[in-house]
Amino acid sequence: MKQTYKNSTPLMQLAGYPVGMHDMARACLLGRLNLGLWGDTGSGKTQLARDMMAHFGDKATFILGRNDMDTRELFQQINLEKLRTAKSSADVKELTDKIDYHLIVVDELPNCVPAVRAQLFNLFDGFVEINGRAYPIGKGYSMGIATGNIGQKFTESSNDLGRALKDRMHVIVDTDYFAPSASDALEILAGDTNPRVNFDTDGTDSSEDIIKRHNTLVQKEIPFEKLVLAGYLTHGLDYCMIGGKAGAKGAVQGGTVSSKRKLKDSWPAVITNHAQGSDEALVFPLSTRAAKSTLRLSQALDSVVEEKAGKNVEVDPIESMLNAYKFVGAYSGILSEAAVDAVYSGDKYKALEAVAQLARTQYAQQEVNIRDGLDMALSKKLDEKILNRFTGRWGFMKDVLVHLTQGDNPHGN
Ligand SMILES: Nc1ncnc2c1ncn2[C@@H]1O[C@H](COP(=O)(O)OP(=O)(O)O)[C@@H](O)[C@H]1O
Ligand SMILES: [Mg+2]
Repeated sequence: MKQTYKNSTPLMQLAGYPVGMHDMARACLLGRLNLGLWGDTGSGKTQLARDMMAHFGDKATFILGRNDMDTRELFQQINLEKLRTAKSSADVKELTDKIDYHLIVVDELPNCVPAVRAQLFNLFDGFVEINGRAYPIGKGYSMGIATGNIGQKFTESSNDLGRALKDRMHVIVDTDYFAPSASDALEILAGDTNPRVNFDTDGTDSSEDIIKRHNTLVQKEIPFEKLVLAGYLTHGLDYCMIGGKAGAKGAVQGGTVSSKRKLKDSWPAVITNHAQGSDEALVFPLSTRAAKSTLRLSQALDSVVEEKAGKNVEVDPIESMLNAYKFVGAYSGILSEAAVDAVYSGDKYKALEAVAQLARTQYAQQEVNIRDGLDMALSKKLDEKILNRFTGRWGFMKDVLVHLTQGDNPHGN
């Protein structure tokens, strides 16, 4: 496999192995997660996307985003120009059936006009939309990598590109934050001074291998610890207190329990009692979609670490999940930008690391309760004493455990 992109800066450590940008891109391939590479020009985004295309032989396509490209031209580029003259949905199906791109790379996506962008996102998710009907492409496996410049700024809450990205890109990485080290740069420069992206491939096509690994990954059982943590990130982090005031040791006194989701736009302004060490005014809970992406990315990162190690390794499920959370969450709109600016000098990863740190501590404190709760579920007998141990932001566990205890299948599978 020809790989030109070099970058030894770790994004995280898992089971003692550094996980870099290349590994993250591979995890997205294995997890079939759409990946956004956001950063300044010349940082190697296009090169990394090109390297990923090399895994798929001729079943990958490259589209350069331009503001004068319309959907007609886009369809031409992916050999679907006949769609315009297709008379029946059978005609359309015949055309789309032939499209077996597994990877669609869109370079400089923010340049595309909204109509083109919408079709590109559909391609990422494995279909083309014609007259309101979706036609599948890619023979069951397709994903997208998009690049964009930080200069082409999108604010997550206020424009439609931001919203579309949030909905359709599963993982977005700031490539400047994890830029190659000085020694990488030296190697890159010493190797080749051609400033163009290297488009060479050695002709190998490992599509089948990637799809096989992907299928194995999605069938693999998700550890219970990861599901509990996903619950914490979607429901635990929804819990907040409004009113009242910060008393001794930072505890809030006299407030009322609320839900960030229900507060909608009044979050985070309405959170005035900044309990010490609290992230209540910093982070919004994950959406169900983002929680699924987090679980999927975590499973994929575990696989990548195993590939690197060349053997079975025990990746701590909590570490794996919290790292996945950081990379799904950073650009997904869950952070209060005002709080990130004020407390973390605008550093989204640092802000999410603080959220992760609190999650880690809290999970450790709950570990015995969680284990007892699972035992209770397995015994099929509700125990109020155990249920009542889950309070505050862990209150969501009561619901989960009652369901597990009374349901037919305590593992939920
Ligand atoms: N990390 C890297 N490893 C190898 N080559 C790189 C790297 N970063 C940049 N380059 C080289 O620098 C040039 C510009 O990279 P490019 O991928 O076009 O950057 P971007 O898309 O971020 O603007 C290309 O020749 C590319 O091969
Ligand atoms: Mg580029």
